Amino acid sequence: MAGKILVLGATGNVGTPLIKALVAKGETVKAASRSGKAVAGTEGVAFDYADKATFGPAFEGVDRAYVMLPAGYVNITELLLPVIEAAAARKVKVVFQSVFGVDADDSIPYRQVEIALEKSGTPYVILRPNWFADNFQTYWKAGIDHGAIAVPAGEGKSSFVDTRDIAASAAALLTTTQFDGKAFNLTGPEAYSYGEAARILSEAIGKPVAYEAVDDATFVGILTSAGVPADYANFLAAIFYPVRQGWTAAVSDAVEVLTGQAPRSLVTYARDNAAALKA
Ligand SMILES: NC(=O)c1ccc[n+]([C@@H]2O[C@H](COP(=O)([O-])OP(=O)(O)OC[C@H]3O[C@@H](n4cnc5c(N)ncnc54)[C@H](OP(=O)(O)O)[C@@H]3O)[C@@H](O)[C@H]2O)c1
Repeated sequence: MAGKILVLGATGNVGTPLIKALVAKGETVKAASRSGKAVAGTEGVAFDYADKATFGPAFEGVDRAYVMLPAGYVNITELLLPVIEAAAARKVKVVFQSVFGVDADDSIPYRQVEIALEKSGTPYVILRPNWFADNFQTYWKAGIDHGAIAVPAGEGKSSFVDTRDIAASAAALLTTTQFDGKAFNLTGPEAYSYGEAARILSEAIGKPVAYEAVDDATFVGILTSAGVPADYANFLAAIFYPVRQGWTAAVSDAVEVLTGQAPRSLVTYARDNAAALKA
């Protein structure tokens, strides 16, 4: 594998630690985002899912790519299928960041993208991360600031995964062919309810954080009044259904299989990110 690695979403939650890991392995990385910002040790390249004219320059000199969709977009197949096509046309290996549980039903848009990749003839690996632990410092940070995380999770548990473990798994897969053609569910080592998670976060940051189980309409109202577009707020509400059903509680050994290290617990996540969580 002598070519460059293209990382989409390069300045995002997973992209940032992924690039760090790839640069540390001595890989030549093209860091793609709309800004085209050159992240330390990489070549920056301007890339926009909505503008196919940016695909050619991004894939130039590349033989492996990390493909994901940034948060905030609901037109999943429309944006991702052309990227899969562009990679396959160039025989670029794709490590695709999908979503935990989408293999339950072939009609789910993310599963449709996975199927297109499986059929594309290009080498691939599919990663299906569970809910990110890091959402507590992004989506749910405003709630933490106000002392209560209000989500429609009921008493359902999730095996939250740390984005550093997603990145380490992706870096391993981009630098070996050993797992090509496979799919992995990425989870943390233990599942917690949002009530339990609130207690862990509260302890780490030294101030009270409660969990408030709300219904979908209340949740969408909170998000839209904070400026989240209604379509994305409704999308987020819908993906709490599997949480309430208990489907996101499963734990896998994939992080350890791929990286040789046990996944970080939510307690470790909260301790390591305490400053950002209470900022
Ligand atoms: N959060 C979770 O719990 C969870 C769980 C499972 C799976 N996932 C999956 O993970 C995805 C999010 O991953 P993430 O949090 O690492 O992403 P992220 O941080 O939201 O990605 C942001 C990055 O994407 C770039 N970007 C934004 N819009 C772009 C566009 N139109 N064209 C090109 N680049 C663009 C941004 O740079 P610029 O702004 O400069 O373009 C930035 O580099 C979700 O959409 C979901 O599919 C999430």
